[in-house]
Amino acid sequence: MKLVGISGALSGEKTSLAVNDVLVAAQLQDSTIQTELIDLREYEIEFSVGAPLADYNDDTWEVVTKILSADFLVFGTPIYQASISGALKNLLDHFPENAFKYKVTGIVATGWSNKHFLVPEYQLKPVLSYFKGLIPTGNVYIHNDSFNEDSDEIIDRSVSERIQKLAEEMIYLQRGINNR
Ligand SMILES: Cc1cc2nc3c(=O)[nH]c(=O)nc-3n(C[C@H](O)[C@H](O)[C@H](O)COP(=O)(O)O)c2cc1C
Repeated sequence: MKLVGISGALSGEKTSLAVNDVLVAAQLQDSTIQTELIDLREYEIEFSVGAPLADYNDDTWEVVTKILSADFLVFGTPIYQASISGALKNLLDHFPENAFKYKVTGIVATGWSNKHFLVPEYQLKPVLSYFKGLIPTGNVYIHNDSFNEDSDEIIDRSVSERIQKLAEEMIYLQRGINNR
């Protein structure tokens, strides 16, 4: 099984590190799982205008294709203005309906306010559901205080445990889908 993580932040490190932690946790649980991190800082994704995928640049084509060929996915977003990042929403705009059918689609989000912990539930979950993704119950919201200020590593044990549980649940659900 291949698990692809997408970090929807274009500036900081936190979202990318959190998504990577899910990939590492998944590999620790099952070493046969292949993982790949797609960090949107490393790609020039074009704005979606509803054109066929072949009309966009190579980066857009590569990222969309990698995501479509993954068995399951974990999406990371920083909270921007009480919503998901524009970069992640633009990427999602490139996908066809049913893009995530039979794929588990986990969520991690980072933010400076705990008041926005339901933003991923209300704003990212419906979009992933629209694409027929199966969303785990254990999505993870991470306050900035849970990161080390200098290294940006996660220093809050309870957050690391939730990430581990999310990886466990995602693997469990994806195996169930594959054995249906
Ligand atoms: C333009 C902008 C808007 C933001 N809006 C919010 C917000 O509404 N709620 C919140 O909790 N954090 C907000 N933040 C804080 C980021 O979500 C937070 O710092 C996050 O951890 C950044 O992730 P990164 O290090 O991957 O870039 C905002 C940050 C920026 C730059």
